[in-house]
Amino acid sequence: MEDTKNEVEKVAFEASEIEYVSYGGEHHLPLIMRLVDEELSEPYSIFTYRYFVYLWPQLCFLAFHGDRCVGTVVCKMGDHRNTFRGYIAMLVVIKPYRGRGIASELVTRSIEVMMESGCEEVTLEAEVTNKGALALYGRLGFIRAKRLFRYYLNGVDAFRLKLLFPHRPPMLANWEGNEVQCSDDSSKQYQGLPFECC
Ligand SMILES: CC(C)(COP(=O)(O)OP(=O)(O)OC[C@H]1O[C@@H](n2cnc3c(N)ncnc32)[C@H](O)[C@@H]1OP(=O)(O)O)[C@@H](O)C(=O)NCCC(=O)NCCS
Repeated sequence: MEDTKNEVEKVAFEASEIEYVSYGGEHHLPLIMRLVDEELSEPYSIFTYRYFVYLWPQLCFLAFHGDRCVGTVVCKMGDHRNTFRGYIAMLVVIKPYRGRGIASELVTRSIEVMMESGCEEVTLEAEVTNKGALALYGRLGFIRAKRLFRYYLNGVDAFRLKLLFPHRPPMLANWEGNEVQCSDDSSKQYQGLPFECC
């Protein structure tokens, strides 16, 4: 859902007052559900939320200002067509707290865990009309990999966005059967990817 920039009373706070925590159990679930239900166009069932937070609690983060939950990101990771990839399912920051880097911090934290876990890429879908989300992910280095026709229940198209991590040099076996690292700079192959890359 696009931030329409309606008149929203901003809250005065220092960035250091925002606390970021990873999913800590059932008491966090209603907080996540309330934020997502209010701000995203797609309706999700309790089973969907549980699927994500029970299986990948380490990829779910919440942002708090004092006792108030002001943002959340919900993700997963797994095998997909010979790649191990991360997927950002939900991202929300409540209106009075937007524009202060909270979503960027939430996404960055989940991406860091994905990288540490061996993911080669991260994907997500965003409505083609969601300028805020597209700008945010663009700044983080995501590219528009595909346009998905009428992807959402509301009939809006989606962009599939993709972030490719620098490629790890492939491990090759030498004559003795030991593993050696290939010396080419494989990360270069990702530079200058075309718009429609998959
Ligand atoms: C999209 C959303 C998560 C952004 O949260 P946020 O905390 O305001 O994002 P950040 O402050 O980290 O923004 C980082 C950058 O993203 C871009 N951006 C974010 N919101 C923007 C907007 N409404 N318009 C234009 N650019 C925007 C800017 O480049 C911004 O950097 P800048 O502040 O230096 O200009 C928030 O608006 C939201 O919850 N929207 C409703 C739910 C939603 O659309 N989720 C995404 C689904 S894919």
